Amino acid sequence: MKILILNGPNLNLLGKREPEIYGSLTFEEYYKTLKEKYASIELSYYQSNIEGEIINKLHEFGFEYDGIVLNAAAYTHTSVAIADAIKGIQTPVIEVHISNVHAREKFRHKSFISPSVKGVIAGFGLKSYDLAIESFL
Ligand code: DQA
Repeated sequence: MKILILNGPNLNLLGKREPEIYGSLTFEEYYKTLKEKYASIELSYYQSNIEGEIINKLHEFGFEYDGIVLNAAAYTHTSVAIADAIKGIQTPVIEVHISNVHAREKFRHKSFISPSVKGVIAGFGLKSYDLAIESFL
């Protein structure tokens, strides 16, 4: 089984960025534990702050991989283009959020990508990614 974890803008700052919301672990540290936990899965990880690069990765992996775990971060709330890319590929996508976006500012309650994905997991900290991976097993 091949799964891509795709992270959007500012998630490269995890560990430093608003730790009271996103925790103090870097994604690289967490990814190491994920790789160990799911050693039988071929996991890949990519992060970009650029909308078009996220779309390119969806196109690149979206006809070959078994699942994509996508945290589109702030683009979740703005991007018609990412929603269209998800609709255009074959691989099922799970939308994840570290924080419970529904308990935060109103602009975070709207997701442009939720109607295009298989499921949504939000609010479990980094464990949201574990849960998304589990959903593919
Ligand atoms: C986020 C929630 C988004 O609203 C925010 O813009 C992010 C991270 C989360 O994982 O909780 O950057 O997707």
